Amino acid sequence: MSADYGYAFGDDEAARRRLELVDAVFSPTSRTFLAQLGERYGAPQLAVDLGCGIGRTTRMLHEATGAERTVGLDASGDAIHEASRHTTGSLEFLTHDLSEDPLPIAHVDVLYGRLVLTHLAEPAARLQAWSEHLAAGGVLAVEEIAATDADHPALADHLGVVADLLAASGRDLHAGARLPSEVPPLRVAVDTTAEVRADAPTAARMFRMNLPGLARSAGTLDDGGALLARVQALDAPLGAVVERDEAGTVTWTLRHLALERA
Ligand SMILES: C[S@@+](CC[C@H](N)C(=O)[O-])C[C@H]1O[C@@H](n2cnc3c(N)ncnc32)[C@H](O)[C@@H]1O
Repeated sequence: MSADYGYAFGDDEAARRRLELVDAVFSPTSRTFLAQLGERYGAPQLAVDLGCGIGRTTRMLHEATGAERTVGLDASGDAIHEASRHTTGSLEFLTHDLSEDPLPIAHVDVLYGRLVLTHLAEPAARLQAWSEHLAAGGVLAVEEIAATDADHPALADHLGVVADLLAASGRDLHAGARLPSEVPPLRVAVDTTAEVRADAPTAARMFRMNLPGLARSAGTLDDGGALLARVQALDAPLGAVVERDEAGTVTWTLRHLALERA
């Protein structure tokens, strides 16, 4: 794995710039989900963004919920450093490895994570552990990929390589399909799916920015040679999709799960 906390996509400059594109593609749907939670629970005192990256989701969470204070957590020191620039008093960022318990913050009203359980081993156990950090009446809300579909071979190949690379280290690209809705003592408030789409050139740009991190990850695996060759073979076809502005669509089906504490 490329980042020392086992993050297959890496946290170098290209990986961090990729998160800006991820944000542009996924945030309209995320904002709808968070607005739904805001209507149901009102503005929280404390919201926490699990796997905040460069802080885009943290700012979105803060704005969409109207939280008094929002804290972003991520294991990448570089991402946290970038996220911490230009922070106001009500936004805070901390370096924390989410595979380790406990979280560095308790009595949280909204615990939120987007596209993070896919990078952690045993997502169900993570949900259970995080549930301990909710305040009474608090909600744990996640958005995770349940299915992917691409109608262009270069994009479909990329998704296949990512799924195999994650699986090789016990992670699951489609973790959202296998999240439990029973996380006692929490109650299910929302359990639904939403589709996010990107046109082929946008998806190819995003996917290409992953390639250095994926290559480093494949290089650290025992028997990673075949996966490394598959990662390297993605660059030219993805580049052609961007340069020729080829037609096609990637569709991510996201599981939206919100679990509330009585
Ligand atoms: C795909 S990005 C998603 C970032 C952000 N949530 C978003 O949706 O734009 C996954 C994030 O999880 C972080 N991450 C991966 N493994 C982690 C771990 N063990 N502990 C904390 N953060 C982790 C990565 O550093 C990265 O910022």
